[in-house]
Amino acid sequence: MVPSSLSLKPAIEAIGKAIDQRFDRLLPVPDDSRARLYEAMRHSVIGGGKRMRPLLVVASCDLFHVDRERALRVALAIEAIHCYSLIHDDLPCMDDDDLRRGKPTVHKAFDEATAILAGDCLHAIAFEILADPATHEDPFARAELVTELAVASGPAGMGGGQMMDLAAGDTSYDLAGITRLQQLKTGALIQFCLEAGAIMGRLPESQRTPLRGYARDLGLAFQIADDLLDVEGSSAKTGKAVQKDAAAGKATFVSLMGVERARAQAGILIDQAIAHLSSYGQEADLLRAIARFAIERDS
Ligand code: IPE
Ligand code: IPE
Ligand code: MG
Ligand code: MG
Ligand code: MG
Repeated sequence: MVPSSLSLKPAIEAIGKAIDQRFDRLLPVPDDSRARLYEAMRHSVIGGGKRMRPLLVVASCDLFHVDRERALRVALAIEAIHCYSLIHDDLPCMDDDDLRRGKPTVHKAFDEATAILAGDCLHAIAFEILADPATHEDPFARAELVTELAVASGPAGMGGGQMMDLAAGDTSYDLAGITRLQQLKTGALIQFCLEAGAIMGRLPESQRTPLRGYARDLGLAFQIADDLLDVEGSSAKTGKAVQKDAAAGKATFVSLMGVERARAQAGILIDQAIAHLSSYGQEADLLRAIARFAIERDS
């Protein structure tokens, strides 16, 4: 029996606190003219967000009994990349959004130049965290983490997906095209979260297929849920503007197939994601619950 998404609440609260504490320690504001940059980074990474990616990292690391402190370092790295992607995604030259996680976006609270630099620096910090021996004693594991995160955030991952997203005004995507766009834009970083557990636990390549299947289906469903929230959600709950994608000409499952079919598709993907975990027992219940939450959420 898959636990209801309600049982996730304490796990989400705990990971939120753990991530806030670590970013607070990692980013003390210096007493010099870089203070504004650090303030902007802190504005982005502390006190908000569902922390889904950190939770996925910890859940996949738990499968392989990875030390929790080390798992949290990887969780911090992926959240830093995610927050950088959000800062840049919100810029006037991209989605032009004023509200994020219930607060003004970084370029609104500060300014565009600071927002660009804050994103750049969060990107750099993610790799600094992964490359540190405190993350894993085995340099091969650290190199694998760095490589996987670089691929997941670069032109064959999130960055490339964002380009495809921006090109949607001039390009018409069919189902395969939108699937690829979302796979890159959102799926790649989510896939990293699951791969990270396998890397940290030194799981042989041959045993990684179920987690990869889960991650792929979850990543797609997660973005469909985000696109549905843009149509049906509220700004009060999501903490960001809604009903913007259609006017902006975004290519989404919702724009291609409508709300009902997109919702059904997300449900099918989540059933598939959970089915990929059939070789795991209750140790994968957290991953199953996260999958349900990904499409049942209202924020
Ligand atoms: C929003 O991600 C951007 C997408 C890739 C869909 P989240 O919905 O995880 O945003 P936060 O971290 O909770 O703010
Ligand atoms: C953003 O997708 C994905 C990123 C890589 C940041 P969206 O543009 O739909 O995310 P929101 O709706 O602004 O959070
Ligand atoms: Mg966007
Ligand atoms: Mg956006
Ligand atoms: Mg969106």
